[in-house]
Amino acid sequence: MNAPVMQGLDTVYDLKLGTPSYVKNAKLIAWVADMAALCKPAAIHWCDGSQAEYDALCQQLVEAGTFKKLNPAKRPGSFLAWSDPSDVARVEDRTYICSAKKEDAGSTNNWAAPAEMRAKLQGGANERGLFDGCMKGRTMYVVPFSMGPLGSDIAHIGIELSDSPYVAVNMRIMTRMGKAVYDVIGVEGDFVPCVHTVGAPLQAGQQDVSWPCNKTKYIVHYPETREIWSYGSGYGGNALLGKKCFALRIASTMGRDQGWLAEHMLILGVTNPQGKKYHVAAAFPSACGKTNFAMLIPPAGFDGWKVTTIGDDIAWIKPQADGTLRAINPEAGYFGVAPGTNTLTNPNCMASLDRDVIYTNVALTDDGDVWWEGMGDAPAHAIDWQGKDWTPAIAKETGVDGKPRLAAHPNARFTVAATNNPALDSAWDDAKGVKIDAFLFGGRRSTTVPLVTEARNWTEGVYMAATMGSETTAAAFGAQGVVRRDPFAMLPFMGYNMSDYFQHWLNLGAKLSASGAALPKIFTTNWFRKGEDGKFVWPGYGENMRVLKWMIDRIEGQAAGVEHILGVSPKYEELNWTGLNFTQEQFTNVTSIDKAAWVAELKLHEELFTQLAYHLPAELTATKATLEQRLAA
Ligand code: GTP
Ligand code: SPV
Ligand code: MN
Repeated sequence: MNAPVMQGLDTVYDLKLGTPSYVKNAKLIAWVADMAALCKPAAIHWCDGSQAEYDALCQQLVEAGTFKKLNPAKRPGSFLAWSDPSDVARVEDRTYICSAKKEDAGSTNNWAAPAEMRAKLQGGANERGLFDGCMKGRTMYVVPFSMGPLGSDIAHIGIELSDSPYVAVNMRIMTRMGKAVYDVIGVEGDFVPCVHTVGAPLQAGQQDVSWPCNKTKYIVHYPETREIWSYGSGYGGNALLGKKCFALRIASTMGRDQGWLAEHMLILGVTNPQGKKYHVAAAFPSACGKTNFAMLIPPAGFDGWKVTTIGDDIAWIKPQADGTLRAINPEAGYFGVAPGTNTLTNPNCMASLDRDVIYTNVALTDDGDVWWEGMGDAPAHAIDWQGKDWTPAIAKETGVDGKPRLAAHPNARFTVAATNNPALDSAWDDAKGVKIDAFLFGGRRSTTVPLVTEARNWTEGVYMAATMGSETTAAAFGAQGVVRRDPFAMLPFMGYNMSDYFQHWLNLGAKLSASGAALPKIFTTNWFRKGEDGKFVWPGYGENMRVLKWMIDRIEGQAAGVEHILGVSPKYEELNWTGLNFTQEQFTNVTSIDKAAWVAELKLHEELFTQLAYHLPAELTATKATLEQRLAA
């Protein structure tokens, strides 16, 4: 077939594409030829998504030293990878939205002119691009994937070209990956092209390392042409391009243009003892509790209640003709935070992790199992995520800031298929999606923000989501525990101008109202308030069911609540406390509203609005003024 021949700077490149006969898409074949000519891989592997292929790639990763096979008696079908210590999380300062106009990326995103970025990555008249020859000595994997059930009219297709077999096997778990995707795109169907390289070409005879990556990193999105180019990282959201790059940054732009939403939200089903089912979509920033909330097991006192998981990280939501919103989980697996996960706080998650899991950056125990902080009793000895000996005593001696050295990186993750989850919702793969009854927005705040508040109306809900603050976590490179504004938990994932996005949400509310349907209620939560002892006051995890039930009571008109400056919150006696000893005083600790703290908080809203002044909806400024009046009264 096509044999790309390109006069590179140092070689003449000639490689058979080896396109399988079932690949008929003209744009795809031409693009793979172009990318092969640019990246100059040693071989091309068209992934078919089969189990045999997955097994062979995992075996190859074991031989390369990237994977350690875990003890099959302890964790059957499971592997452990340790990344380069410099490549452990998303790199927000290296992430770019290269829209034609800077205003369209907005002040919350890094921007570069598309032509300039293309010259840097692909090469220009006088410039050799970073991607030129970037895959030398490596295999280029062609990874076809569907975000959402194949053929669903909410789903979209992407193709990722990557020189990382780790990416290929992770994508098979995280997305619907394989041959069937080619049938969906046929000869002329469209797809989002995603190019990824670890940026570590191999010279002839050069020995590879177990986790190749590059100090230089670029995670680049071209929203107008819907392209993704990722250079230099092999980790998570930087490299599994279906996830944050496509399903949020590119998809949010598609949603803006086509009238739907791409959100950093879990989706859960909650069924009451009478069998009535509700669906809730909840946006919490990275490492702030989405996976845990999506897999919640109702505690004592909630007999007959059931929570089921549709998704744990991303929701694509489309308005329907009848004024309802229907949502799908575009993913097929979970790339979840390991530390803090245990059988008490998240039994469903622990059960999901029994077999067929890829672990990244957790510790390896002497019996070939995994361990992380917060999993339970520490092993007497383990090898930490950097390959060093770890014992509780060594950890203490070699710790920093009075804290023991960690066996697992705080952003250590597991990759596991949704079908491993015992609480998986029967409709999780339904092409029509599920009807959303309520939205939740929740940050990680030690102070100020109460346990739960219902917005009085859609606009106030959008305001609360837009001005949400949260303490930064290990999910992204940089300082941790710093409060920053994280509108809709989308700050690192917005593909366009944040103020235009607020307007998009307001417009959607107006459109749904016009069709006469009841709008989903909007709530904010904060599971993370701390007491003077520095400990969380609210027990969280499964106990969050008590708050979820109150929200449903509100939907059903069965709880009066109390109105305050911000909205409506529960009275102590409106929560079911069966099985939990939580006093009125403790409740006051997590629900009180400190006026002085909120005056200070509104100054932070003001700062955000100044930053977002371009296209900021007047409705939000007006909502803020009303809030200030209520505070002053
Ligand atoms: P991403 O995958 O980064 O988007 O994270 P996520 O939002 O899915 O967060 P996840 O559920 O993985 O939780 C992250 C961390 O917060 C883990 O260490 C959890 O143990 C902890 N956590 C989750 N829910 C709660 C809660 O209700 N209370 C407290 N105190 N901690 C929680
Ligand atoms: C997040 O950071 O919100 C994640 C992990 O879910 S990553 O895939 O790296 O984005
Ligand atoms: Mn996430």
